[in-house]
Amino acid sequence: MGNRKKIIDILRDNQGSFVSSSQMVEELGVSRQAVWKAVNSLEKEAGFNITSIKGRGYKLEKSPLEFNAPGIEYYLDNDLFIDYKVRFLKSTDSTNTRVIDAAGKGASEGYFLAADEQTGGKGRRGRSFLSPAGVGIFMSLLLKPSIAPSRVSCVTLLAALAVRKAIEDVLYEAGLSKVKVGIKWPNDIIIDGKKICGILTQMNCEKDYINYLVTGIGINVNNKEMPESIRKTAASLFMLTGKKFDRNKICAYFLNYFADIYGRFSANGDMSGLKKEYDSVMIDLNNEVRVYYGMVEDSDPEKIRNGKALGIDSDGSLLVDFGEGPERVSSGEVSVRGVY
Ligand code: BTN
Repeated sequence: MGNRKKIIDILRDNQGSFVSSSQMVEELGVSRQAVWKAVNSLEKEAGFNITSIKGRGYKLEKSPLEFNAPGIEYYLDNDLFIDYKVRFLKSTDSTNTRVIDAAGKGASEGYFLAADEQTGGKGRRGRSFLSPAGVGIFMSLLLKPSIAPSRVSCVTLLAALAVRKAIEDVLYEAGLSKVKVGIKWPNDIIIDGKKICGILTQMNCEKDYINYLVTGIGINVNNKEMPESIRKTAASLFMLTGKKFDRNKICAYFLNYFADIYGRFSANGDMSGLKKEYDSVMIDLNNEVRVYYGMVEDSDPEKIRNGKALGIDSDGSLLVDFGEGPERVSSGEVSVRGVY
C-alpha cells in the first residue's frame, strides 16, 4: 500500500477531527516533510478538502470528492484478494484500449483505469459506447486468471455481479433499497427494464492459455438524459431515481466486491460457487426468452429459437429449455431477449 492510500485511510478514520503530524510520521514511517508533501498533493491535485493548522495537524473535511484516483482509493478496502493499482484520466479514447496498452508494457493483474470521459468508447459487437464527460463511469481492469480461454465469459459474469452489487449498495445508502437491480445475462445491468451499464471483456490468449483479460465497464450514473436513439432502452441512475451518485464510491465498491468474488471464483475456476447468487439476480430466470443466433435485428426465423431460461451453468453459459430439456447457449454465439 502506498503512502497516499495510508494517509487517506488515517484521515478518513479520523474525519472531522485533527490528526497530529507526529502521529502521521509514526504511522507512515516517513519524515514530517514527506507527510506535508503528500497531504498537500491530495489537497491541490486530488481535490481533497484538508485543513492544516500548525501545532494541531491535519483534518479531512466532510465534503464531496472529485472523481479521481485518490477519491476512489478513499473508499477502497485494505488487504483485498487483488492488489489494485488505481489510475485515472480526465479524458481518453477508451479505457479498454489504454489498459491493453499497459498490459503490453508489462502491467500486472489489478491495474485499473477509470476515466471521466471517453472519446472512442467501445461496446460489444463492434458498437460504440456513449461516454460523455462529467456524468458516467468508464473503467477497465486488467486480469490474468489461470483459467482456460473457453472460461473467459465467467469473468464478465463476475464483473456484472460486482457492479450490480455496487449499484445496489449505493442505492441502499441513498434510501432506495426497494429499487431492483437485475442482470440480463450475460452482463447488462438493468433497472426498470432499462440498461444502465454495459461490460466489454477483451482477451489476449494462446490456444489454451490466457495472457491477459481486460474487463471494461461503462455505467450511466448522473446523465440527465439519453440520446433519442437509445432512449427506449437505456437510462442513468439519476434518470431513474432523481438522485445523484458519487462515482468514486461506485468504482471502489465495485473493486472491493470484485476482489472478493474473483477470489472465490479462482478457488475452482468456474461459476459453481456463484451460480446461486447470479441466478437470484438474473432478470430472465424461469421466463420465456428468445435466442438469436445472428444479429438481433436479423429476423430470419432459422436463426431464432424460443425457450425458457433455467439459469447459468458452471462455465458461465445460459441453460435454456427449448422443449427437450436444458441446452447450453454461450455468450459469444447468441443474443438473448426476454419475450414479453
Ligand atoms: C456494451 O454494453 O456494449 C459494452 C459497453 C462497455 C463500455 C465500457 S466503458 C469502459 C470500457 N472502455 C470501452 O471502450 N468500453 C468499455
